[in-house]
Amino acid sequence: MEKMFEGTTINDMQLSNRSVRSATWEGMCDTDGRPTTKLASFYRDLAAGGAGLIITGYTFVRQDGKQMPGKMGIHTDAFGSEMRALTRAVHDEGGRICIQLVHAGGQTTAKTAGRRPLAPSAVKVEQFPEEPQAMSRQDIDEIVAAFGDAARRAKEHGFDAVQLHAAHGYLINQFLSPLTNQRKDDYGGSPEKRSRFLIEVYRSVRSAVGPAFPVIAKLNGSDNLDGGLDVRDAVQAAILLDREKIDAIEVSGGTSASGEKGPVRTKVDRPDREAYNLALAVEIKKAVRCPVMAVGGFRSPDVINKALAGDGIDYISMSRPFIREPGLIGRWKEGDRSPARCISCNGCFKPGIKEGGIYCVVEKKEQHRRT
Ligand SMILES: Cc1cc2nc3c(=O)[nH]c(=O)nc-3n(C[C@H](O)[C@H](O)[C@H](O)COP(=O)(O)O)c2cc1C
Ligand code: SF4
Repeated sequence: MEKMFEGTTINDMQLSNRSVRSATWEGMCDTDGRPTTKLASFYRDLAAGGAGLIITGYTFVRQDGKQMPGKMGIHTDAFGSEMRALTRAVHDEGGRICIQLVHAGGQTTAKTAGRRPLAPSAVKVEQFPEEPQAMSRQDIDEIVAAFGDAARRAKEHGFDAVQLHAAHGYLINQFLSPLTNQRKDDYGGSPEKRSRFLIEVYRSVRSAVGPAFPVIAKLNGSDNLDGGLDVRDAVQAAILLDREKIDAIEVSGGTSASGEKGPVRTKVDRPDREAYNLALAVEIKKAVRCPVMAVGGFRSPDVINKALAGDGIDYISMSRPFIREPGLIGRWKEGDRSPARCISCNGCFKPGIKEGGIYCVVEKKEQHRRT
């Protein structure tokens, strides 16, 4: 796994290897979005375990962009000391931490958002109860500015990078997708016009953090939905981001409406079911100059090696394998190259909602059996 363990840089950020802990909501913040000491210690373990770059769970830039309980908020300056404790915990272990910025758009409820959810058009997302309100031009300008303010705070709090969550059906993805964006103005229609909101968010963030600070985007290579964003749309959006000097693009796929082809697939139990967004990442890699990260179902060193050395992907991102094994990269580095032990059952979501934080339920059961 020589390529995996190469040191690299993304803009002014030095990384010890090519592994990324993909953004993972942990459910470990207070009800108002304030990070807890439990979350800081969770990140400390990940950094100590060898993950090259840790991307936080999605963090709302405005109250009405909140989705899940225990989600982190960067909509206010009030959480500065907790945020700094969190970035310090990672830096103390020699790690790097990037914050994922999100507005949930129509993928939330009025109860959580504190108002009728906002979206590019009044198109209801199947899994959510209310029809969202179509955004006015003023709403667009305000949310674009909120992303910039959030990025400014992130830099002040010691984060090493920011990631725009433009995937998985959240607000930016809703603008990119012809299914949820039925606007007739400058923000809807052609792929370029549907990308306009993303580019405005990017510019707002870039102007807040300056040219040397790493700005990354997580983009769906496809929504895996009839009539949703497809790979041609995604390539167009990636080219526009690349022209704007984005520092890296992480490629995922699917939304909450994509069923078995969603972002967090189960049954990743054989090498041929791994790396389920790799083909999309390869298409984007061919079209851009910036580094590309691939996420979704990476479990075995052989599959990872092939993606890095064979397909030219720059970084491998994983989520669930690190929930079960925060020390996975260290284990591989020390020579134990057996695949990640995560069985992709998605049992880790439930304790995030019910017990104040995610953990691997399979590992916990096995520990009980052993004792
Ligand atoms: C508990 C959990 C929380 C997640 N939260 C986020 C999130 O906040 N932002 C995001 O972009 N993706 C999120 N994801 C998706 C992962 O980043 C990743 O794209 C997906 O799980 C596929 O990678 P994996 O097979 O390595 O788990 C989450 C996944 C899990 C399991
Ligand atoms: S509960 Fe454990 S084994 Fe199941 S998906 Fe989550 S981390 Fe993997």
